[in-house]
Order: sequence, then structure tokens, then C-alpha cells
Amino acid sequence: MQSITYYSLGCMWHYIFMSSEPHIELKNVTKRFSKSGTVLKDISLQIQRGEFVTLLGPSGSGKSTLLRMIAGLETPENGSVKVQRLKKYDCGYVFQDPALMPWRTVNENVALPLQLANIQNTHSRVQLALELVGLKNAGELFPHELSGGMKMRASLARSLILEPDLLLLDEPFSALDEILRFSLAQELRKIWLNKKITIVLVTHSLAEATLMSNRALVISQKPATIELDLQVDLPNERPVTLRTDTRYTIELERISEAYRKIHGGF
Ligand SMILES: Nc1ncnc2c1ncn2[C@@H]1O[C@H](COP(=O)(O)OP(=O)(O)OP(=O)(O)O)[C@@H](O)[C@H]1O
Ligand SMILES: [Mg+2]
Repeated sequence: MQSITYYSLGCMWHYIFMSSEPHIELKNVTKRFSKSGTVLKDISLQIQRGEFVTLLGPSGSGKSTLLRMIAGLETPENGSVKVQRLKKYDCGYVFQDPALMPWRTVNENVALPLQLANIQNTHSRVQLALELVGLKNAGELFPHELSGGMKMRASLARSLILEPDLLLLDEPFSALDEILRFSLAQELRKIWLNKKITIVLVTHSLAEATLMSNRALVISQKPATIELDLQVDLPNERPVTLRTDTRYTIELERISEAYRKIHGGF
């Protein structure tokens, strides 16, 4: 049995909000690649609208595959994937590889979703998105003229440009220096708090997961199953100073210890 349902309910959004249907629901999802064998095994998962969830797990365990499955870029062997759609351009995606078009400038790359949506006068929106990710002076550069971290930031700006209500982010901060990483993490938290969107973020950093998300899912080695589903018990407002707060260090240690029990390490 295989089914992927992306349903658009337009003006019935109110009905959906009133119902308790999850934003994302995976039921018994299994994925197999002919050369890699089974990658996802019987994954069931619900993510409510407005949650900020991180996906953690070792390299090669299936995090990107799971994220692509949520985006509808992979089809399950068995099981079903449902994503509620309340508007046409509802999902922004940052790929692990920034996937910019080499023949387009940063401005043109970031404007692409607007052009595909037939939206005119893109300049001010592009400027705003680039400012948000600290790239306001890089609009005229081509991808080969950017550093790895700048490419990821351009990709993040592109994912935000249509103001999606679902953001799927695959290690968006991995190429960034620590200062930039935390400042972008702050910006993303602000967007999440203000716009009440749903975010699923793949990361290898337990610190990032603790500081940024409200719920951390830890998956096993391949074939991936969900081993832990942890609530992050920290206030919604998370200034940079939280990193030196004992509430944060206690929470980070709790999550790290749970992770170590599954994957080892010290
Ligand atoms: N299109 C594909 N065809 C065949 N195998 C694939 C494909 N995509 C992923 N895989 C395999 O699935 C497994 C999980 O890959 P995935 O990229 O999801 O891992 P990951 O957890 O995101 O790893 P990392 O942390 O290194 O990014 C790997 O063994 C990989 O080789
Ligand atoms: Mg990956």
C-alpha cells in the first residue's frame, strides 16, 4: 500500500484549525532504495501546526530521506504521508546542498520562487530576505563567488521568500561560523514565534536542537526508526544569553544523555 496525500482545503482552513488534525502525519512509512536497502522502517510521526521540531541522528541514518519524504520528494514503499495544505505556496525547503542555479545571481536565485508564482516587483522582498540572512550586499554575486556559508544563507533566503507555513531545513547552519550560526538561529526562532509556522530542522548539533527547537526526534542508525521523542523544556523566548543559563545547560545535558544512550559517545 502506498499513498501520499497533499490536500489543499483553501477556505476550509478554519475547519482544519478547529480540528486537531496534525500538520504532518506519517503512518508506518517504510522506504527502500535498491542500492542502499531499507532506509526508513515503519516510521509513524505526527507534527502539529506551529511546532518547531529538530531531527537528530548519525550520518547516513536517513534524516534527509525523511525530510524529503515530508516534502513529497520521495514516495514511501509502504505507509502514508499526509501534509495539510492551507495555501498554494506552503512549503520552503533548504537542501543539504544549497542547490543554487549557477547562471543566476543571488538576487535572481532568491527571486525565483516569486517568479514561478507569477509575482511581480520582487526587488523589495528579495532585499528584505537577503538582509535577514546577512547577505544584503551580495545580491549581484553569482554562486561561484560565494563561500559555502553564503550559499546556504542564500538558499535560506530563497526558502523564506514566499512566507511558507512549513519550513523544512536540512542542516542549514552546518557551513557557518559559530557567531553567524547563532545569529541566524535567533532570526529563525523570531520568524517561528511571529509567524507561527511549522519548522522541521535536521541538525547534528545537540546544542542547536536544544537552543532552537521545542521537540527533538532522535532516529536510530539505518534503517531509521524513531528512538526518542523529547520535549525541550525551555521558554519560548530564547536570547543568546540563554546559553549561559543553567536551565539551558541542564536541558542540553538531559538531551545529550538520552542521545548517548542510543548512539553512544561521551
Ligand atoms: N536516492 C538515493 N538512492 C539510493 N540510496 C540513497 C538515496 N538517498 C539516500 N540514500 C541512502 O540512504 C541512506 C540515508 O541517507 P540520508 O541522506 O537520508 O542520511 P542522513 O541521515 O541525512 O545523513 P547525513 O547526516 O550524512 O546527511 C544512506 O545510506 C544513503 O546512501
Ligand atoms: Mg542528510
